[in-house]
Amino acid sequence: MSRLILDSSNPPEPGQVVWRSPSNIALVKYWGKHGIQLPRNPSLSLTLAASYTDTQLEYEMRDGPDDGLIELDFLFQEEENEAFRAKVLEFITGLLPTMPFLKQLKLTVNTGNSFPHSAGIASSASGMSALALCLCSLEDRFFGTLQDPQAFDQKSSVLARLGSGSACRSIFPHAALWGATNDVPGSSDEFAVPMGDQIHETFKDFHDDILIVSREEKPVSSRAGHALMEGNPYAEPRYAQARSRLANLLEAMGTGDLPVFGKIVENEALTLHALMMCSNPSYTLLRPDSLAIIEKVRQYRADTGHQVYFTLDAGPNVHLLYPGELVVDIRKFIDDHLVEHCEGGFVQQDWVGEGPEEV
Ligand code: PMV
Repeated sequence: MSRLILDSSNPPEPGQVVWRSPSNIALVKYWGKHGIQLPRNPSLSLTLAASYTDTQLEYEMRDGPDDGLIELDFLFQEEENEAFRAKVLEFITGLLPTMPFLKQLKLTVNTGNSFPHSAGIASSASGMSALALCLCSLEDRFFGTLQDPQAFDQKSSVLARLGSGSACRSIFPHAALWGATNDVPGSSDEFAVPMGDQIHETFKDFHDDILIVSREEKPVSSRAGHALMEGNPYAEPRYAQARSRLANLLEAMGTGDLPVFGKIVENEALTLHALMMCSNPSYTLLRPDSLAIIEKVRQYRADTGHQVYFTLDAGPNVHLLYPGELVVDIRKFIDDHLVEHCEGGFVQQDWVGEGPEEV
């Protein structure tokens, strides 16, 4: 491919691109990585709808000679944010070998989330996927290299992965798989692939209500957590387990078998936290309220027979997964019995979505 360099004698007009990209919730978890953001095991997620990031990327040609630097202004919720700016700068700097045109531009990133900042909801998947999509739109606008929608999505997923591993799954509607596995032709460690066509209709009308047990920033970052897997004595069996669970989960999701789905998903969530608890040093992100919610969900399921299941991210908040037909009952269950375990009574209602959109 020719190098992606802009012709400074014929500079592009200033312009902007805007993408809205959602978060996702993993069903089989990615936990442990190697190389440049490559996963130790394949993971599968549902793409969400209501928890998203809007990112606007403005650009204009820089004047003056190439100094190899990136000119970046960064606004988060309309305000400067040096910590986020540094992260984005590091990310874009890493892309320069393949996207050298980025240093020919003055870039202004203006980004914001649909959910409150410090709500305990991770924004790296939505944020990094939205930024990756903006950068791919820019490349395509200048060079026409990503006209094929599949090529566009694939490159967006690769870039998102480099920003934050799990972000690569947010590029696709309904469900996505990341990580090479013989069970899914075309799957790769480098990017996620869409799985919407492989899942039963039930899962396209699935809800994920996120019970915010704590809004605090977690004491151990995901980055540190992944790194601790390297010395974890259960690491190898865990990676093998994830592979075999993935095959079973794909089968259950293909046929719409909710009890099998739930059994695998709940065990995955607890396995993720068990791995943290037996790392060296060990740590615990679950809170008493997380466990109280889990117990109540199990009891409610036993009492009512309703197909509602929990999952967890790398934090104390509990995600309730259930089919759309149960929404009235489950929202009542949450209001009557679970909200009391949530900080400030906050619940982020979400559901399976259609993936990112250019705004
Ligand atoms: O994408 P990262 O590096 O923030 O890791 C996220 C890992 C989990 O959210 C815990 C699981 C997953 O697959 O999303």
